Amino acid sequence: MSKQRYVVHGGQPVSGRIRSLGAKNFATKAMVAALLADGQTRLLNAPRIGDVEITCDLLAAAGARITWGPDSELEIDATTLASARVPVPDSGSNRIPILLLGVLLHRLGEAHVPVVSGCNIGARPVDFHLTAARMFGAEIEVAPDGYRARRRGRLQACHYRLPYPSVGATESCLYLGVLARGTSIIENVAIEPEIMALVTMLNAMGARIQLLPNRELVIEGVDKLYGTTFEALGDRIEAASWAALAAATGGEIVVEGIDPSTLINFFGPFNAVGGGVAIEGPRAIRFFRRQALRSIVLETDVFPGFATDWQQPFAVLLTQASGISIIHETVYERRFDYLDALSALGARTQIETHCLGSVDCRFRGRDHPHSAIIQGPTALRSDGLTLDVPDLRAGLAYVMAAALAKGSTTITSVPKIERGYGDLIERAAGLSLSISAA
Ligand code: EPU
Repeated sequence: MSKQRYVVHGGQPVSGRIRSLGAKNFATKAMVAALLADGQTRLLNAPRIGDVEITCDLLAAAGARITWGPDSELEIDATTLASARVPVPDSGSNRIPILLLGVLLHRLGEAHVPVVSGCNIGARPVDFHLTAARMFGAEIEVAPDGYRARRRGRLQACHYRLPYPSVGATESCLYLGVLARGTSIIENVAIEPEIMALVTMLNAMGARIQLLPNRELVIEGVDKLYGTTFEALGDRIEAASWAALAAATGGEIVVEGIDPSTLINFFGPFNAVGGGVAIEGPRAIRFFRRQALRSIVLETDVFPGFATDWQQPFAVLLTQASGISIIHETVYERRFDYLDALSALGARTQIETHCLGSVDCRFRGRDHPHSAIIQGPTALRSDGLTLDVPDLRAGLAYVMAAALAKGSTTITSVPKIERGYGDLIERAAGLSLSISAA
């Protein structure tokens, strides 16, 4: 059963070793891709986390047979696909249902997809996904309970320029394009490492996808895709969080299971704040504090920019840096609500609606609270505070902040954290982090 609360006793440097699980934002998309094959797919290094369990339920509701094997191996048999109706996920929010639209359209000729958001970090619309599906020839009706899509004949290739390099919409275009008739060109796509892995996996299934310079995908549709075996890359968001914890507390943490190249644009700002990095092996990185921590100006962006999912753990680190740090969030319009919890622990933070940075930002002049100022260093302290987790990335940042703060902190709504980070307490046993379930 899922844990409901964590209790963290903080105030000491956190050191030790921890293994990053397979990346949630690849594994769940690879599971959706598996449905495109009229066969069996084995996903290696699949993380045992809430979002993967939710995706298993959605796939099973469509008729796929899913089996967990040893060593985090997930086998998905998509030969038995039968239902085009995607249920509302148990968590109430998750981005997978909309990704199933194109896949079910190919396999079953129709798809009924509920309207669900994701974590509460902004509006999370799906307009690009729907436009893409229509461009590929789907007919979509918007009903009170969601979207009803069908196709007449095979989906047709198209030329579509995404209004913004959305991760999910790029994935939707991939699913739609691989089995469509003809050659599609998708411009302005997202190129996050998880998307590159998805392209590689689809090509291993028999797809013909090429990534051209300037964020352009050329997808030559094929008649059939085949099952494959594919290994999930390590979670670069989790790895960055342990890095920030090591530097923030003055400890030393070795993160295993992570390819350093997926952290390419994390290392620069991390080093600039005063963090240190040592590559210990092909998939092991040691993170520590190299020098006194100092403030930095940071802007999040789509890959290869500094990932929006890195900003919460990084904000915790910045509470320990001397001077005034700035984070300009340009991917989501509202991703700083979690700063209230840091302030309750003693951090000095302020949220601004104007752009504090130079990246061309969609939120300019639109009154969204998307810039943050953090003044440090501040000694964090908790006299038995309870923090309720707003979303999963902020959730791990709360664990980090609690580890930094002298005293004991209770963290509630833990299932939100465990949607993205499985077996946290068990895996943290190799760290000098005092965390227990309550
Ligand atoms: N957007 C639209 N219309 C759309 C789709 C997106 O306006 O149809 C906007 C969004 O509102 C947002 C921006 O485009 O402002 C980027 O959203 P994107 O589609 O890239 O995000 P996503 O696919 O919903 C994934 C990850 C997020 C991660 C973002 C950005 C998954 C399941 N989620 O979301 O991760 O922050 O890409 O890298 O892959 C998380 O893991 O906790 C998480 C939130």
